[in-house]
Amino acid sequence: MNLKNKIVVITGGTKGLGKAMAMVFLENEAKVIVCSRDDKRPDDLEGNIFWVKADVTKEEELKNLAYFVVEKFGKIDIWINNAGIWLPHMPIEEIDWGKRAHDLIEVNLFGTVYGSKIALAQMRKQNSGLIINILSTSALNGLKNETAYCASKFAASGFTKALMKEVDRNNIKVNAIYPGGMQTNLFDERKPEIYNTFMDPNEVAEKIVENLKKDKPEEELIIKR
Ligand SMILES: NC(=O)c1ccc[n+]([C@@H]2O[C@H](COP(=O)([O-])OP(=O)(O)OC[C@H]3O[C@@H](n4cnc5c(N)ncnc54)[C@H](OP(=O)(O)O)[C@@H]3O)[C@@H](O)[C@H]2O)c1
Repeated sequence: MNLKNKIVVITGGTKGLGKAMAMVFLENEAKVIVCSRDDKRPDDLEGNIFWVKADVTKEEELKNLAYFVVEKFGKIDIWINNAGIWLPHMPIEEIDWGKRAHDLIEVNLFGTVYGSKIALAQMRKQNSGLIINILSTSALNGLKNETAYCASKFAASGFTKALMKEVDRNNIKVNAIYPGGMQTNLFDERKPEIYNTFMDPNEVAEKIVENLKKDKPEEELIIKR
């Protein structure tokens, strides 16, 4: 795909992988719109990136994001469900399943569901578009002390695999990305012990965009450390 002038929406594009992808899309002359929960546009966001306040757990706010994009640019070519949160590694007994695991699943699963649904509605009107869901290698294997995060990402992966079969796959496509550990703000609360071995999100973003530029991009791309 030639990315020049493509309209690309990235949820959670103000930090980490989302921000890194935004920069690579800009380098490829795409128009980039990101969202986050901040009350105002983050100061360190590149000037050419459009920003909208939207919490992915609130369907109405994501609808407003899509509305903004379609009003301004007339279409959505690529919608990336990237916003995600994490929980520090701990055994099942220590996880706050009542609140924190619920919040995790709200963002990592329902944020992806709402984003996909809203993007798809617009893409069906256009009869074109690509939805990309950022999952994790934690959606491929169960990992010790990561029951909640793995559950959220396995669920988002199941949703994505099912949605891939639901769209027509000619004009509208759904792709899944499974990155391994990256050095990002995801781990601000507590860094995993092996954090130093994690990847640079800029390199992962390059690989995601390079894949899209191929004649036949991988529909499910695993990017391991
Ligand atoms: N880092 C890793 O090792 C790794 C590995 C595999 C997969 N992933 C996945 O990659 C994606 C990006 O993570 P990251 O590592 O780049 O994390 P990050 O640096 O913490 O960035 C997360 C982004 O998501 C936004 N966000 C979080 N909750 C949101 C919400 N409810 N609504 C809107 N935006 C929200 C954040 O902005 P605000 O908090 O300011 O709203 C931020 O822009 C996530 O889906 C994550 O699960 C990460």
